Amino acid sequence: MISTLKDRRMAKIAEAVREGVTVFDIGSDHALIPVYLLKSGKCPRAVITDISRNSLEKGLKNVIKEGVSVQVEAVCTDGTLGLDLPDEADIIIAGMGGELIAEIISRDERLKDKRYRLILQPMTKVRELRIYLSESGFSDIKEQRVLSCGKIYCVISCGYTGSKEKTGDKEAYFGYGFDRTHNEDRQYAKKTLNDLKRKMEGLKSSGKTDSEELNKTGKLISYLEKELDS
Ligand SMILES: C[S@@+](CC[C@H](N)C(=O)[O-])C[C@H]1O[C@@H](n2cnc3c(N)ncnc32)[C@H](O)[C@@H]1O
Repeated sequence: MISTLKDRRMAKIAEAVREGVTVFDIGSDHALIPVYLLKSGKCPRAVITDISRNSLEKGLKNVIKEGVSVQVEAVCTDGTLGLDLPDEADIIIAGMGGELIAEIISRDERLKDKRYRLILQPMTKVRELRIYLSESGFSDIKEQRVLSCGKIYCVISCGYTGSKEKTGDKEAYFGYGFDRTHNEDRQYAKKTLNDLKRKMEGLKSSGKTDSEELNKTGKLISYLEKELDS
C-alpha cells in the first residue's frame, strides 16, 4: 500500500506539486509518485506516460494494485507529444538527464503557459537545465536539494513568465534558492565544488597549465568557495 513515499527524492517531487491540479508524470515508469498523489487526495487525476510500453505497463500494474485506475490515464508517448493538456496542470519530468528534460520541454510550445508548472528532477546536466529554463522564459524558478539514499538530488519547480533571464554562476552551480545554512544545500554545493576541482586537476594534468579555461575554472572555484563560506 502506498500511503507515504519513503523515498525522499520522490517525496520532495510530490511535495512540489500543487494541491487539486491534474498531475502529468512524463516518464513515469513505476508510477509511484502519481499513485501517492492520488491516494493522499492531493491530486484528483493523473496522466502517466512513458516512451517504453514495458515501463508504462509496470506503472499501470501499480495503479491497478493501489485501486486508483479510474483516476488515471496512461499514454505511451515520447515526452508530451499528443497529450491533451487541461486548463491547469503540474507536469513532472523526473529521473532523466537534464538535456533530455530540456529537449522534451523545448519540443512543446504549449508548456510556455502560466497555467502549467513543471516539476523537474534531473539526474545529470543540472546546470545546463537551469540555464535553459531561465533563458527560455521559464524564469519563475524554485529549487530544493534533497538527500535520498545517500545521494543528493535537485528538485526544480518552474513556471513560464516569458522573461528571459541570465543565470548567475551561483544559481547555475549551486542552484536556485541556495541557502548556505541548509545542510542539504551545503552538501550539494560541496559536491559541485569537488567536481570543479577534479576538472581543474584534469586540465592541469593534461599540460594545459596556462589555458584560458584553467584560469576561468580557478576563478570560478574561488568565487563559489566564498559564496559557500562567507
Ligand atoms: C529512471 S526512470 C524515472 C522514473 C520516475 N520518473 C522517477 O523519477 O522515479 C526514466 C523513465 O523515463 C522514460 N523515458 C525516457 N525517455 C523518455 C521520453 N522521451 N518520453 C517519455 N518517457 C521517457 C524511461 O522509459 C523510464 O521509464
